[in-house]
Amino acid sequence: MTKGDNPQAKPVPTDNVGVNDQAIDLVLRPNTWDDYIGQDKVKKNLKVILGAALKRGEACDHLLFFGQAGLGKTTLANLVARELNGNLKITSGPALEKMGDLAAVLTNLSKGDVLFIDEVHRLNRQIEEVLYPAMETRKLHLIVGKGPGARTLTLDLPPFTLIAATTRPNLLSAPLRSRFGASFKLDYYEQPDIEAILKRSAKMLNLKINDEALKIVAQASRFTPRVANRLLRRVRDYVQMNDKEIIDADAAKKTLEMLEIDELGLDPHDRRILSVIIEKFNGGPVGVGSFAAAINEDKGIIEDVYEPYLMSIGLLTRTPGGRRVTEAAYKHLGHGGSDQGKLL
Ligand SMILES: Nc1ncnc2c1ncn2[C@@H]1O[C@H](COP(=O)(O)OP(=O)(O)OP(=O)(O)O)[C@@H](O)[C@H]1O
Ligand SMILES: [Mg+2]
Repeated sequence: MTKGDNPQAKPVPTDNVGVNDQAIDLVLRPNTWDDYIGQDKVKKNLKVILGAALKRGEACDHLLFFGQAGLGKTTLANLVARELNGNLKITSGPALEKMGDLAAVLTNLSKGDVLFIDEVHRLNRQIEEVLYPAMETRKLHLIVGKGPGARTLTLDLPPFTLIAATTRPNLLSAPLRSRFGASFKLDYYEQPDIEAILKRSAKMLNLKINDEALKIVAQASRFTPRVANRLLRRVRDYVQMNDKEIIDADAAKKTLEMLEIDELGLDPHDRRILSVIIEKFNGGPVGVGSFAAAINEDKGIIEDVYEPYLMSIGLLTRTPGGRRVTEAAYKHLGHGGSDQGKLL
C-alpha cells in the first residue's frame, strides 16, 4: 500500500449501512501527528530522528516498533512515511518466504521509500541474512543458478528506510535487532488518551456520546486504541437498534454486557484463564504451558495476547516458579480471596 491509498479521514454517516468495520478502521486511522493521540515520548523522539534525516537529506535510520497488537505500530509507520515524503510499501515476515519474495520487494523500492515489515519476528533466518547487507550498505546479493555454476549477483538499492514491527521483540535475532538505528516501544495507553481517541472517533462517525459512556468504554478497552474503536462500533450498533439519540452510560453498559466484557475489559477467555489458575493450580505459581494445556489454548497466544494485559492491570504476575494470580484477581472474579492470594 502507498500513502495515496490511505484516504484522508472523512466523517462517515451513521446510516451508511455499506460501511463495514474494516473501512471504518481505515477512516479512523490517524493521518497526522496531532491525531495520533498519546505515546508522547515515542512521538517526540521519532520527530527528532525524522527531522534530522530530512535536514541532512538522507534516508532515515531503520526503525523498529514493538508493542501489543492494536497499539498503533502500523499507524505510526504511515505517519513516518508521510513525514519523510516517501511511499509506504507494506509486507510482513510470513509473506517473505523465499529469497525471491524479498528480492522482489527490495528491487521495487524507490529513493526515499519506507519499507514496512510487519510481524518481523516471523522472518526466517535465510531471509534475514539477505536483509542484513540491504539494511547496512543497500546491497542486494542474489545467488543466481545452482551448484558449482552458481554465482552471486550484487544489486545496488536506492536509499530507503526499513520499519519493522513486532509484538514479540524477544524473538528477534540479535544481529537483526542490532541493525536498527532506533527502536520504540508502544505501551498501553492512559485512560484519558483512550477517552480522547474515542471522542475523536465518535465525532468522525457522527455519534453523540456522553462523558460517562466515554469513561465506561475506555475503561473496558484494554487501553488499546483498536479495541476502543471496536467497542465504540458495537455501542453504535446498540444505539441504532434501540433508536437512541445518544450513547449514554446505559447503552455502554448494556453493550459490554452483551459482549460479556466486564468493566476491566476482560472477556470470558481472560476470566477463564484466571479461574483455571485459581481452581486447578491453587492460584499458581504455574508454568504457562500447563495452564495453556488445561484450557486447550496455544501457549504463544496466551503469552502474546492474553497475559500482557492481565499483567498490566495487576491480575497476574510472573514469578520464578511460573505465573500467579493476584489477590485483585480473586476479588475481581468474586472468589473472595485465598491464602495464596493474600500472600501477594
Ligand atoms: N495513537 C493513536 N491515536 C488514535 N488512534 C489510534 C492510535 N493508535 C492506533 N489507533 C487506532 O487503532 C487502530 C489500530 O492501530 P494499528 O493498526 O496501527 O495497530 P498495530 O500496532 O499495527 O496492531 P497489529 O500489531 O495488530 O498490527 C488504528 O486503525 C487506529 O484507528
Ligand atoms: Mg499493524
